[in-house]
Amino acid sequence: MLNPVFSTKHLRDMTPLFYEIIHKTRDAIMSRVQAGSQNEKGAAVELDMLSWMGRTTLEVLGQAGLGYSFDPLTQDVADDFATAVKELLYVFRLSRSYSVRHVGDLPLTLFSLLLGRLGRAPFDSPQMAKSIVYRLLLPLAVKFGTPSFRRRVLDMIQLPSIQRLKDISDILHARSVLIFNEKKEALARGDDAVKHQIGEGRDIMSILLRENMMASEEDKLQDEELIGQVSTMILAGMDTTANSLARILQLLAERPDAQERLREEITHAIEIEGHGDTLDFDRLLELPYLDAVCRETLRVYPGVASVFRDTTKDTILPLSEPIRGIDGTLMPAIAVPKGTRVVGDIYGMTFIGGGRACIGFKFAQVEIKTVLCVLLQHFKFEPTGKPIAWNFAAVQYPTVGKESTFPELPLKVSLLRP
Ligand code: HEM
Repeated sequence: MLNPVFSTKHLRDMTPLFYEIIHKTRDAIMSRVQAGSQNEKGAAVELDMLSWMGRTTLEVLGQAGLGYSFDPLTQDVADDFATAVKELLYVFRLSRSYSVRHVGDLPLTLFSLLLGRLGRAPFDSPQMAKSIVYRLLLPLAVKFGTPSFRRRVLDMIQLPSIQRLKDISDILHARSVLIFNEKKEALARGDDAVKHQIGEGRDIMSILLRENMMASEEDKLQDEELIGQVSTMILAGMDTTANSLARILQLLAERPDAQERLREEITHAIEIEGHGDTLDFDRLLELPYLDAVCRETLRVYPGVASVFRDTTKDTILPLSEPIRGIDGTLMPAIAVPKGTRVVGDIYGMTFIGGGRACIGFKFAQVEIKTVLCVLLQHFKFEPTGKPIAWNFAAVQYPTVGKESTFPELPLKVSLLRP
């Protein structure tokens, strides 16, 4: 049902909307650079480009995906949904503290300690390993008792990360219901009401709702399933694209020759057939160096480094070279029985393949290219000299140094035409 809205034809139609949002990012960055370089015309200003890319990708997904605006971009207004989405991937770095307020809390406090201990295994492991136990436990936990019973149990678990996770899930659900109901009511009121909404009914969610109305009874998705698509789309498409963009900007800052070559390719194409600082969908996708920069960065640095898969039948996993088993035998391959949970490393397969491949591959590709096309015509990016470390997590993210847990990518940004 979702495939047509991720098609080339639909993305071509959506490209002007992408540019509209990216122009707001461009203007916002421009005003920050101008304000920061008031005393010295053309001076570079340090900006957190990860945050700007996150705000941009959320707004693109909001408007093009859901027909909903989360962030005006022109002002700095905190949105609880946006904050919750960002925190979800990093929530496991919250410190742990336990308290026994009542003797009846004791069993749950002990359970919390055990969960905290499991969640920390191995003790100083990266973010990914810390969250793995929870990711394995959660699908089992939702089958346990009624929702109100599960909530009461959660309320009693004295773990900051679990409590924050519960709040995040409430925030995501409440906004998803609100967005869904607005769309549903507009569709029920007819075409005129839809035209007055953000995205004018061309967004993915509106199309999905319309398709669902026409679907046969057996194919129809329930309201709960449609509501679930809101956070699925934002979670799957926001940080993955933003962090990939941040990685590209960091590499371009470190390789001024590549940055200049890419800028020349874009400005040359704009001179011949641009409209303002934008290029048509087809022309943009044809630019060979832009394509090479994007593909190669995504290939070498996949944002999602590992995925979970369950084997549906017994299989043999061939190895490039034999490994020694714990009993000392050399094995050229590993036998994997049906039903095994495999945590797969996907280096070189950024969007994965097969039936569960990333549906947003083309969407991300167009978004990344439109952002680079606009930003590189106005700004120059340079490293700040601060050490940037990339952290292994559900979606890899940069921090200043290895010790920091705060996701950020500071870069020196200056105007090309001050
Ligand atoms: C550079 C950006 C992106 C990367 C690296 C990426 C990567 C991935 C990967 C590896 C998966 C498989 C995950 C798994 O099975 O555990 C996936 C799934 C998915 N992606 Fe993306 N993605 C990106 C952008 C997007 C965008 C922009 C959207 C939506 C507009 C999106 C929507 C989805 C959805 C809905 C799934 C789930 C598909 C399913 O389970 O059937 N992704 N993505």
